[in-house]
Amino acid sequence: KHPLNIVKMKKMKQAGDPITMITAYDYPSASLAEEAGVDVILVGDSMGNTVLGYDSTIPVTVEDMICHTRAVARGARNTFIVADLPFMTYHGSIDETLRTVRRIMQEGHAQAVKMEGGAEIAATVQAIVQAGVPVLGHIGLTPQSVNQIGGYRVQGKDERDARRLLEDAQALERAGVFGIVLELVTEEAAAVITETISVPTIGIGAGRKVDGQVLVFHDILKYTPEYREKRFVKTYADIGEQIRTGIAGYVSDVKTKAFPEEKHVFAAEDGVLDSLYG
Ligand code: KIV
Ligand code: NA
Repeated sequence: KHPLNIVKMKKMKQAGDPITMITAYDYPSASLAEEAGVDVILVGDSMGNTVLGYDSTIPVTVEDMICHTRAVARGARNTFIVADLPFMTYHGSIDETLRTVRRIMQEGHAQAVKMEGGAEIAATVQAIVQAGVPVLGHIGLTPQSVNQIGGYRVQGKDERDARRLLEDAQALERAGVFGIVLELVTEEAAAVITETISVPTIGIGAGRKVDGQVLVFHDILKYTPEYREKRFVKTYADIGEQIRTGIAGYVSDVKTKAFPEEKHVFAAEDGVLDSLYG
């Protein structure tokens, strides 16, 4: 399998070939995602919720991103890997931002970074792109700003809001992004953005008229202790239930001494240890 790159992604948009993207945060999930044939793996800061147990993405650090991106890169050597820049790591000086991006690329082994925001981060995006790093934009619902937005609300419902999203998308395109994630955006606003800009749009809760889809690994597989239905998610397996049942079976077998059985046991040669019993 030939790994995807940003040039091929643009060609996929032109050809109407949907881009498939899923999050992953560790070696086995990345390896299985690659085997399943995804085009792009996102090491999302959603790891804050999915694997670190926080209630938002805000506590996720650069160290967290590097550690998990490295593990993903070891599992998916032939898949294009994008890593999120964590909360407030790209709002200080350009020098500081570039140092962080360098670490995520060199220590984390990502091939690109993703950043939340529109026109207000365009200059920073441009500096990173000029340094040779592909940047994926992310507008609509941007979870790092959840405290400012006041909740996880659908974006682009009225004309003013949709126009703001379109202008942000255009500013990011001018800054040089290779694509834009549209999160929790009305299908109509996502369609206008997708038709207006030349780089691919990747939707999550953004409807059907986008160039690709991204979903969270733990959402589509129900790999979470307290699964909550989300309208924009389709589930394809119930890994949470399988893990719970599997571990309960193990616990029960140990308690009832049904495990280990003879086939799990290592035996010494006949009689050679008899003298040890005294
Ligand atoms: O962190 C994440 O998983 C994301 C996707 C929801 C796009 O940013
Ligand atoms: Na994210």
